[in-house]
Amino acid sequence: MAIKVIPADAPLGAEVCGVNLSRPLNRETVEVVHEAWLEHLVIYFRGQEIDQHQQLAFTQHFGEVGAMRSPRTQLDLKGIPQEPGIMTVSNIRRNGKPLGLAHDGEMWFHSDMCFEENPLKATLLYGIEIPSKGGNTLFANMYLAYERLSKDIKETIRGRTALQMHEFHRTDRPQLREDMSDVAHFSHPVAITHAETGRQALFVNRLMTARINGLDEADSDMLIDELLRVSEDPAIVYEHVWKPGDLVMWDNRCVTHARTDFSETERRLLRRTTTDGSRPFETMVEYSSAGAP
Ligand code: SIN
Repeated sequence: MAIKVIPADAPLGAEVCGVNLSRPLNRETVEVVHEAWLEHLVIYFRGQEIDQHQQLAFTQHFGEVGAMRSPRTQLDLKGIPQEPGIMTVSNIRRNGKPLGLAHDGEMWFHSDMCFEENPLKATLLYGIEIPSKGGNTLFANMYLAYERLSKDIKETIRGRTALQMHEFHRTDRPQLREDMSDVAHFSHPVAITHAETGRQALFVNRLMTARINGLDEADSDMLIDELLRVSEDPAIVYEHVWKPGDLVMWDNRCVTHARTDFSETERRLLRRTTTDGSRPFETMVEYSSAGAP
């Protein structure tokens, strides 16, 4: 069957049809998928029936599989420990304990592992049990977020870094502490250059960006508020409404993602794999070539 890439009705996202992820893929297919991913930032395959091994095999086409950072063993529904590299994203408990890290309810926009020196490149999420309402995943196009900044703001963030940190909250702004030694954190450029496309992308998010370095707290807060306003504008967001059997793959270098709320009385279970990334960098660009007004 020929592969078809059907763009979503949004400024990012596309469905890839005609690929069976349970089978080994040839080089040509992988190249088409990779191109579609770079072009659309988020791609999704519907109606897939894949186990953890097949998901890992597909993931490996796009880089080194990211290790699971949490020391907590990731379980499936039967309580079977999952392969390294698998994360169970679920609100389901087994004997009172989460199957993986507790993924209940809403989660604010973030970029996976942006608080590490080498944040993750790709994230792949496979839907197994999906609530009847909510628990959608929102994806924001951070190329467009950058392009939509005013010339003044672009000038202000040029060459600046932001401190990214993670406190394992889902809906709280990060708070700097006197002693940061027990909190995962790292500073990256506020605007990064995508290592494959060469495009500039805004690299801040509500859940994990704590401070713009070199500014006092009030100025940093003001600037972050403005960056978040632009980067969460619904006009640059694709909302994925899950069905069991969906595999969604996104690019953490140019996309932030969030989860909408869902009822605690409903079950949600997804399986996550990732690929390792490299340290983001910023290439200085001329404003005119970035499409600024
Ligand atoms: C995540 O943020 O990694 C999970 C997203 C989701 O549960 O939709």
